[in-house]
Amino acid sequence: MAGLELTDDGLEALVNAFYARVRADADLGPIFNEAIDDWPEHLEKLSAFWSSVMRTTGRYKGQPLPAHMKHKSHITPALFERWLALWGETSDALMTPEAAAAVQTKAARIAESLQLALFFQLGE
Ligand code: HEM
Repeated sequence: MAGLELTDDGLEALVNAFYARVRADADLGPIFNEAIDDWPEHLEKLSAFWSSVMRTTGRYKGQPLPAHMKHKSHITPALFERWLALWGETSDALMTPEAAAAVQTKAARIAESLQLALFFQLGE
């Protein structure tokens, strides 16, 4: 079933499948399971985020950077690679090729800017 499109329903199904894999992942799972108490709320927030990012719906109103800064001591560049690999596998498995490519390109850009903010400090 590789047919999900860039609709709110398609993105929600992708997000749900992705975080199920994240939670079961040996490297990423512990960080998320420690940080997140209310999984239905997190999944709703991340579906809104991806709806805003891919479809400019404005459903997400949060600030991703401070949310990750809180967990800076546990987050490494290798974990970002793992995150992106899982995102790639999940989107390839579930989406049309065009939709998978689009969400992968977008995630890579966001991961890059999060990493610049988390791991590089100007002037030091
Ligand atoms: C939230 C971990 C990469 C988007 C979170 C939270 C954790 C987390 C633990 C919950 C924060 C909290 O409420 O305490 C990670 C790790 C990553 C990663 C370990 C990679 C190593 C990404 C990437 C994106 C992303 C690449 C986007 C493409 C978000 C968003 C939230 C979030 C939108 C919700 C922020 C809010 O509360 O409004 N992440 N993340 N994350 N993450 Fe990530």
